[in-house]
Amino acid sequence: MDKNRILTGDRPTGRLHIGHYFGSLKNRVKLQDEYDTYILIADVQALTDNFSNPEKVRKNVREVLIDYLSVGIDPKKTTIYLQSMVPETAELTVFYSNLVTIARLERNPTVKTEIAQKREVFGESVTYGFLGYPVSQAADITIMDGTIVPAGEDQEPLIEQCREIVRKFNSIYGDVLREPQILLSKEKRIKGLDGNEKMGKSLGNAIYISDSPEEITKKVMSAVTDPNRITKETKGDPDVCMVSYYHNLFSTPEECKTVCEECRAGKRGCVACKKQLANNIIEYLKPMREKRAYYEAHPEILDKILIEGTKKAKEEAKKNMKRIKKAMKLDYFE
Ligand code: TRP
Repeated sequence: MDKNRILTGDRPTGRLHIGHYFGSLKNRVKLQDEYDTYILIADVQALTDNFSNPEKVRKNVREVLIDYLSVGIDPKKTTIYLQSMVPETAELTVFYSNLVTIARLERNPTVKTEIAQKREVFGESVTYGFLGYPVSQAADITIMDGTIVPAGEDQEPLIEQCREIVRKFNSIYGDVLREPQILLSKEKRIKGLDGNEKMGKSLGNAIYISDSPEEITKKVMSAVTDPNRITKETKGDPDVCMVSYYHNLFSTPEECKTVCEECRAGKRGCVACKKQLANNIIEYLKPMREKRAYYEAHPEILDKILIEGTKKAKEEAKKNMKRIKKAMKLDYFE
């Protein structure tokens, strides 16, 4: 009960990209050696803004799971489970819904931003389910007694909301729940190929962990470079070039130094620079592509991982629900 536990997860709405990798997956791989780790594939949360597209959510459960495994999340160390298959989460969401006001949810900055971005889904009026997803996320975390939530900055308001719910719960029903803390990743957010501050599927500026060598080359060739550079001889500014930015992630320190020096001196063309980068990314992601190919050929292993992870998560959820119901005087006939 007093040991820390990691709980985090992703909405299965698409394959994961290198922004996810550097921003969180890489860290999770490291943390699984130090902590008892649970990762949920948040299919119910994905439905809150994809309710009319269940096929998309279902298909991406598998894609996200393969991405996890291919970057090195090890099901022997990390319990990977499906949110919808732990119905205690939904039950707890209902209990928590009394402890949070509509006005508070409407003020949640993450929810606010997302609603503005999802006009095509919600039009002028947002659904009850979407507005309430922070409540369900609080249930995700606490039903597993999670205390550490590794996540990006955008998740901060959601974790804060969870902490408030926990405090409110404990003040009414007794000291039953633990307040989780967010663990922000030290690495900053990865920019898109187009220089956009955010890499994202909807922005069309992402390199996916699963991209083929051809896709990687094609994307790198389209990356934004110093706009003032007209010919190879023009002295370039690597500080405003996305190719140089990615060299820093995928190339050796010596290579990065040479790339910058030659660019500034007008001795290196952007095409050569991009080809070198593309090759380095292809090499970097190669072991992940190989693992992906293996899992794609062995779907029965994927099923087994999810079935076993979900079984373990369910046992944990049952245990915690028992304590919660007892505190809420809902432990009839026990
Ligand atoms: N909101 C998270 C995202 O959009 C996914 C998520 C669902 C989650 N439940 C969670 C993250 C619990 C951390 C903890 O990526």
